[in-house]
Amino acid sequence: MRTLIKGGTVLSASGASPADVLVEDEKIAAVAAPGVFSAAGMAADEVLDAAGKYVLPGGIDAHTHMEMPFGGTFSADTFATGTAAAAWGGTTTIIDFAVQPKGGSLLSTLDAWHGKADGNCAVDYGFHMIVSDVNDTTLKEMETCLDRGVSSFKMFMAYPGVFYSTDGEILRAMRKANDTGATIMMHAENGIAIDELVAQALASGRTEPVQHGLTRPSALEGEATSRAITLARVTGAPLYIVHLSAAEALAAVAQARDEGQNVFAETCPQYLYLSIEDLARPGFEGAKYVASPPLREKKHQADLWRGLRTNDLSVVSTDHCPFCFKEQKELGAGDFSKIPNGMPGVEHRMDLLHQGVVAGKLSLARWVEACSTTPARMFGLYPRKGVIAPGSDADIVIYDPSARQTLSAETHHMAVDYSAYEGFEITGKVETVLSRGKVVVSPSGFSGGSGGRFLSRDLCQYLG
Ligand code: URP
Ligand code: ZN
Ligand code: ZN
Ligand code: ZN
Repeated sequence: MRTLIKGGTVLSASGASPADVLVEDEKIAAVAAPGVFSAAGMAADEVLDAAGKYVLPGGIDAHTHMEMPFGGTFSADTFATGTAAAAWGGTTTIIDFAVQPKGGSLLSTLDAWHGKADGNCAVDYGFHMIVSDVNDTTLKEMETCLDRGVSSFKMFMAYPGVFYSTDGEILRAMRKANDTGATIMMHAENGIAIDELVAQALASGRTEPVQHGLTRPSALEGEATSRAITLARVTGAPLYIVHLSAAEALAAVAQARDEGQNVFAETCPQYLYLSIEDLARPGFEGAKYVASPPLREKKHQADLWRGLRTNDLSVVSTDHCPFCFKEQKELGAGDFSKIPNGMPGVEHRMDLLHQGVVAGKLSLARWVEACSTTPARMFGLYPRKGVIAPGSDADIVIYDPSARQTLSAETHHMAVDYSAYEGFEITGKVETVLSRGKVVVSPSGFSGGSGGRFLSRDLCQYLG
């Protein structure tokens, strides 16, 4: 099966150029100057006209939570619905989190997550491992996880009693990471201090959703980020700060990077576009915007955009963790601390970041880099993923940069009853998506299925 994508502008992390792309079965066979394939009499089974469109490597969302047990419920997207929504939005790889329960083993956790995902995903997927119980067995199992293609481990300085690890436990896991080359991903918020602030708020009758933001001040993300960086420095572990939302945290990351430490960070579209004003929406509406770290004051957004430009923020992921407003977010009616933490977004990352290109805040190359190429390298998938080049998987998005769309729960494909971006007007739209050479989204709709495969990942490719 040969597909020719012709007449488009091919994007990469280093720029844009007019080119035709030849796909053979699951792989990219060749990229050539416009017209070269046709002039050579190359026959294709299918020709996709990309005139006036961008042709870019499929997005890689390195932070999703499908059907995740959390907050007394499960995130609303299954691997099937969540990966289909990802495909609709031009994301052809997700890396989701397997969640070790306290007292559970990493390997049985990994088996359980394979049980949920295998045979159900519309696009390719990998796993990170959430380590919530550090002990001799767990540390040993980290090595086996690496052998099984899971090369990154998320730990939490937040959520005492749930996923929280002490500094000592973090240090032990980081030593193992230094020994093996694994990456430690950190949820960096000072959970002990936050829990105290939450208790004080509830005790004084402050129960509404905005309290979620007010009890998790940005300084406590800055403090935890600095502490994680220090622990990583002491142990030599590569460190990746997840869902960075605060200027203080960004400053700590930037300083560590300037000093040459292997510290990396991602941010998410919600921190670039939404703010604590959304958490403060009247009634219980703010619950739709409860996620941790919380949405910040608007002044943080300019810092995050700058960090994206300067590469102190290397990746944009979604932290997609959808809970329906009805029945799930409502678990926290009358007590903000019981609102399940998380927001939907896997479908809209490419579009939302494209608005940065439209506004002149990001280059086209940087858009592709932050949404595809860098996550591929960061999590050991490059050049199989993250680039349009001969030999790479044919995960390709044809994107119409001038189409207009309005985001809405009425039209999105995520299994959640609201959109955090309801009414957002977007310039640009995914037209066609190929997942390993198969068209899964086109102007006639979704034609994907459950052909997504598990991706066994190597170590971070930015380490010296
Ligand atoms: O609120 C969030 N971010 N929910 C998902 C779990 C996490 O901490 O990433
Ligand atoms: Zn987190
Ligand atoms: Zn710098
Ligand atoms: Zn998350």
